[in-house]
Order: sequence, then C-alpha cells, then structure tokens
Amino acid sequence: MKRTKIKDLLQTPPEGQTVLVQGWVRTFRNNQFIALNDGSVIHNLQVVLELNAFPEETLKRITTGACLSVTGTLIPSPAKGQAVEVKASTVEILGDCDAEKFPLQPKRHSLEFLREIAHLRSRTNTFGAVMRVRHAMAFAVHKFFNDRGFFYIHTPIITGSDAEGAGAMFRVSTLDPNNPPKDEQGHINYKEDFFGRETNLTVSGQLEVETYAMALSDTYTFGPTFRAENSNTTRHLAEFWMIEPEMAFYDINDNMQLAQDFLQYLMKYALENCSEDLQFLDKRAAEEEAAKPQDQRSELGLVDRLKFVVENEFQRLTYTEAIDILRNSNPNKKKKFQYLIDQWGVDLQSEHERYLVEKHFKKPVILYNYPAAIKAFYMRQNEDGKTVAAMDVLFPGIGEIIGGSQREERLDRLSRRIQELNLPEKDLWWYLELRKFGSAPHSGFGLGFERLIQFVTGMTNIRDVIPFPRFPGNAEF
Ligand code: 4AD
Ligand code: MG
Repeated sequence: MKRTKIKDLLQTPPEGQTVLVQGWVRTFRNNQFIALNDGSVIHNLQVVLELNAFPEETLKRITTGACLSVTGTLIPSPAKGQAVEVKASTVEILGDCDAEKFPLQPKRHSLEFLREIAHLRSRTNTFGAVMRVRHAMAFAVHKFFNDRGFFYIHTPIITGSDAEGAGAMFRVSTLDPNNPPKDEQGHINYKEDFFGRETNLTVSGQLEVETYAMALSDTYTFGPTFRAENSNTTRHLAEFWMIEPEMAFYDINDNMQLAQDFLQYLMKYALENCSEDLQFLDKRAAEEEAAKPQDQRSELGLVDRLKFVVENEFQRLTYTEAIDILRNSNPNKKKKFQYLIDQWGVDLQSEHERYLVEKHFKKPVILYNYPAAIKAFYMRQNEDGKTVAAMDVLFPGIGEIIGGSQREERLDRLSRRIQELNLPEKDLWWYLELRKFGSAPHSGFGLGFERLIQFVTGMTNIRDVIPFPRFPGNAEF
C-alpha cells in the first residue's frame, strides 16, 4: 500500500477509505489519541485507537518522538479544528523513542536550547515551519529569475581570488599544518599545495558571475558563501547563502528597481504559498513581541509586515540625504546613537540604518551613491569624484538585506582604483580583461538568503533560519 502524506490526507474527503500514514508522534493522550506529524505540513493528523483494540505492549511504545506506520480508515473527525482523522486498524512502531531520554518534550523549548540539539530541532513546529518557508523561498528565487530569462550560473566555492574585500576568508589547504613545506625564505610554500597556490572559500560569487553577465546578459548565482569575521550578532553567520544577480546593460536605477521587484515577489510568493506556516509563525512572533517592553514592539504583525512590503514603494535616497536626516535626528542630537553622525563620509552602522527605516520613513529604504572610500573597488565611480553608484536595501528589524552596485566598466578607472587601494592587480587580470574585451555597463547585487528568511519568518536570530548554523566557536554537527 502507498503511503499518503498528512498534508494530502487533511485535504481528502473522508469516505472510510483505507490509508497508510507514517510519521512521528507529537503527543499520545488517554491511550487513544495520537497526534502524528510527518513534516509535510504544520498540522498533525489525529490517529484514533479504539480502546482495548491494541495490546498494552504496543500502547507503551507509542511515546512522544516515536516513529509509527499506521493503517486505518479516513473518517470525518468529531473534534474541533480538524476535518478528518484516521481510525487505526494496525500500528507498527518503526522507531522507538525513550520518553525519559528524548530531549524534546511537548512544550515550548528555548531557541538557545534547541540550537544545541540542531539534529532534533527539525522535529519542532517552529523549525518545520521555518524550513518549509526556506524551501519555498529558494524555489521562488529560481522561479523569479527563470521567468525573466536569467541564467543560473554556478560560481566556484573554492577560489584563488581574494580581491573582493568583502570579508576575512577561510583558507583551503591540504598542507600538513604541523609540517608545511617552506621556501628559501622560510615562508610556507603554497606551490606545493593542492592547487599550486593559496586558495580560500569564496566570500561572494560576484566577480566570477560577472564573466557570464558579459556573455549571457542576465545571470545570477545562488550558493554558499563564507566569512571568517568574528561577528557574534543576530544577523551574521560564518557560512550563509547568497543570491547574486548580475545584469549587462543595467544601470544603478535598473538595479534598484530589480531589487525591489525581487523582494516584493518573494514576499508575495510566501504570502500566497506558505500561509499556514506564516500564520503559525505570526502567532509565535506575536507572543515574543508581547514579552518585550512596549517601546520596542513592532507595530505590525508578521503577515501585515509582509503585506506592507509588497504594497509599498521602497524609499530611495542618496547617502548624502541620509546623512542630513541622521545628523539632525533626535537620537543624534541627544547623543543616543552609539556612533554619532558628525560628518559626511562616515560608514553607517545598523543603528542608523534602523532609525531611517523604522523611525523616519517607516518602510524599506534604498540608499545609493555612497562615498567611494567606504565601498568596494569595483563600484562605478560617479562624476562628482567622491561617490560611487552603490546601493544598499535596508529592511525593518534586519538593517541591510541587499548590497549591490553598478560596476565600473571603464578599464582606466578600474585599474586606477585597484592601484589606489593597493589590491593585487595580478590576481585580477581576468577581471580586468572583461573591461578590455567588449566591456559593457552592468550592475548587480547580493541578497543574504538567511536575512530574507529572517524577515519572512519573523525569527529574530539568524542562527535559527539555517539548519546548521556556523558562527564563531561553533561547528557542531
Ligand atoms: O554587502 P555584501 O558583502 O555584498 C557582496 O558580497 C557583493 N559581492 C554582492 C553583490 O553585489 N553581488 O553582502 C551582500 C548581502 C548583505 O546585504 C547581507 O544580506 C548578506 O549578504 N550578508 C550576510 N548574511 C549573513 N551573514 C553574514 N556574515 C553576511 N554578510 C553579508
Ligand atoms: Mg554590504
């Protein structure tokens, strides 16, 4: 007999038909009612055992966490909140679960505790919901781009280029750390390493995907990226996934429009396709909000927040305009910011970004035309001689969710910038050749996938939106 998933069963008209269901016990009440979950949907299926119809031996083994295979008939449920239930005819225990030792009890556990048992937190309602939403968002990313004629390019994970400057890198080497080969000067001789050179885990696929934008026009990469920064925040991971579209013939305005369309599409997709999980997460987030002091609570609930983003234009303003607003803001005048804004040119901290988004404009903001000095070498230089065509998309509760720019397509300008910054020009030879051979204006950006999932699920810590988070001091599992 073929197994039916609980998601499908819950939508099937109950006509007493025989069905096979398999899943994990959430609760077992009165030796009679099993709440069974198979992860296909947030809801449990109620399995009813007729009293005295099953041996005591079997009943004893139906414990929270045990895995069962049940056959029975699908009938209308007299209970509230569910249309159907299964009246069991056979119950097979596929995997016992010692209730005394099983760390998950049918109650709420703290997210901190669940992080320590990341191999089991997958069995909670919260992580089930988050990961189903995460899946839907990954799918929607590909659908958005595929529908618009973009090509998915797999950029390398091990790279020889460390010129992006996006962050500290993890080294990749097969040399024996206790006894590495040395050259004449006593330095480690990477010529003897696996690739014959120093290599690292990528911090971004951008430079490589640009090579395909200069051939296929509309491209994107979506893969894991790695940053060895010692950032212990709720918004940073050492291993995260990034979506990086890169488009020939796009200027900074086209780029900003694509970023807005993309984010709105993803939120809309979640609202339309993940409504049950979002309702659950909305309720969960509301309970968390209620525990916060009044002035820190957000005005909108999760679902309303998503709708708000879908329905409203993002506010666009230049870095210079933002500095003026921040300089004259109350928290700046009253010295409430940790980093006071006193002059043009300073980098914005997340407290400033959040002020603009959450207090001043009360909607997503796109800041553009940043000072060249605080942005990457490849960003297109503006005519004012001091800013570049960079853009950051800032979201409530998250801060920066997207960073991008129009790229410098002029060889002379790019070379000069590389020299000014003392970057290793010889490693960038291939990147410069894109400007030598048929250069084209082009733009792109990077969306941090986990920051997106944080916003869509309302989870406050980025460590809770990826199955196995990697952060300083933690690489368990
Ligand atoms: O602003 P970033 O560093 O930009 C780049 O890497 C560019 N190469 C992107 C491009 O233009 N193609 O990172 C882009 C986004 C950030 O806005 C943020 O959402 C996310 O990546 N991000 C992180 N997410 C989780 N943990 C971290 N440590 C992150 N660092 C950046
Ligand atoms: Mg950035």
